[in-house]
Amino acid sequence: MTGITIALSKGRIFEETAPLLKAAGIIPLDDPETSRKLILETNRPEVRLIVVRASDVPTYVQYGAADMGIAGKDVLNEHGGNGLYQPLDLQIARCRMMVAVPEGFDYENAVRQGARLRVATKYLQTAREHFAKKGVHVDLIKLYGSMELAPLVGLADAIVDLVSSGGTLKANHLVAVEEIMQISSRLVVNQAALKLKREQIQPILDIFAETVANTSP
Ligand code: PRP
Repeated sequence: MTGITIALSKGRIFEETAPLLKAAGIIPLDDPETSRKLILETNRPEVRLIVVRASDVPTYVQYGAADMGIAGKDVLNEHGGNGLYQPLDLQIARCRMMVAVPEGFDYENAVRQGARLRVATKYLQTAREHFAKKGVHVDLIKLYGSMELAPLVGLADAIVDLVSSGGTLKANHLVAVEEIMQISSRLVVNQAALKLKREQIQPILDIFAETVANTSP
């Protein structure tokens, strides 16, 4: 396979990546938001996009099924980054990974008292690392979405989730009490592909880097 395959997910990541791709002269022939196709050809016959779940992007790149991909730091942290070269923070899809609790729950006090907290999250690895570093005792409960619901129905005391506008927390009477990390999307490249296809990959990396540098605040 001599062409380049780029893995990305629909929604915010695709929307915010489209201008970068365009700057690199890559325009998909179908719109991933309306097309059911999972392989999108582009105006450049040697470049194709594959549309995958956000959390699957690192896996496709790690195994070389995609040469490069775009994934959030949240997803990369959970994956571990094995076999992935991460040359560039694209500074898109920015948000924060936070600990949140119901309004009125005294998180600081519970932590001070050494309480054992039940925490619901999609991000087990990140949450485990965070609470271990803080010396907080937690039982982690894995969920796949709608984490904000868990404290409302007694499944958990707290959640670890992404916060962007804060609207979802507010609508569910939760408050963010701790920031775990700032999140943005990164470019990831398969390390073997980078060596074998450097002539094709490097120009794309260079244009992405230049575009990011020119558009960053
Ligand atoms: C994310 C996140 C929060 C929400 C935060 O969910 O998990 O629920 O967005 O955004 P806000 O602060 O602007 O309200 P998303 O809608 O991506 O769905 P998910 O549950 O599938 O991750």
